[in-house]
Amino acid sequence: MRIILLGPPGAGKGTQAVRLVERWSIPHISTGDILRANVREGTTLGTEAKRFMDAGELVPDEVIIGMVGDRLGEPDTAAGFLFDGFPRTVPQAKALETLVNELDTPIDVVLRLVVDHADVAERLTGRRTCSDCGRIFHVLTDPPSAEGRCDDCDGEIVQRDDDREEVVLNRLEVHRTQTAPLEHFYFERGLLRDISAVGTVDEVTQRAVEVLAEYDRSGGDAA
Ligand code: AP5
Repeated sequence: MRIILLGPPGAGKGTQAVRLVERWSIPHISTGDILRANVREGTTLGTEAKRFMDAGELVPDEVIIGMVGDRLGEPDTAAGFLFDGFPRTVPQAKALETLVNELDTPIDVVLRLVVDHADVAERLTGRRTCSDCGRIFHVLTDPPSAEGRCDDCDGEIVQRDDDREEVVLNRLEVHRTQTAPLEHFYFERGLLRDISAVGTVDEVTQRAVEVLAEYDRSGGDAA
């Protein structure tokens, strides 16, 4: 399965991605996670990307497209992949289209998580993330069992720098102006499917699985 998850910041893409890639045994390719790993490791890419991320702006297309091209060259993508947070602009979507056409690995479906911006602002400002394994929590709806420590790996739980309220508002505006046009791009290609991202995490997963199962040609777990 080759899947793109679309939706505004805080829609639950990362939360759902973890569950869906496990079900379909495909790699989870999150450009945000790759960038944050580069920031942590202090690479040149990370240093360059950090100032855009901290301001809630998009990292330049050429940087992202090169990064994704490298990732798609890795052997685990032969089984398929799930993109979370990519593409983010029409130039990124066009570059991906060229890439997958060259590789003869077309996208099966673009799943859009639909939720109001008012709801996602609260999700983002309450989000906490494990600094070691990346597990996502929420201070109100999904808190860790022990204050400040990850349930899975006991790592330190932190707030992402770009989850501060003023940055969140800019990220939502950037989504509205630069990423929302992708919906039309994929609608025109007959790839766009919508599900509501409102409700419990389990309810959203159930909706996602029902839609994705329609595109599943692997005969895997989701059948
Ligand atoms: P990125 O890491 O991609 O962030 P994002 O798209 O803004 O998405 P988020 O990770 O904020 O939200 P999500 O939808 O994954 O929600 P989550 O599941 O965590 O990008 C960060 C930055 O990197 C960008 O601003 C940009 O600078 C750069 N970047 C990345 N990719 C780029 C690209 N392609 N081009 C250019 N720049 C790029 O959930 C959020 C919270 O809600 C959690 O606390 C969770 O517990 C909670 N939650 C989840 N589901 C539910 C539910 N159903 N009900 C209640 N709460 C829920």
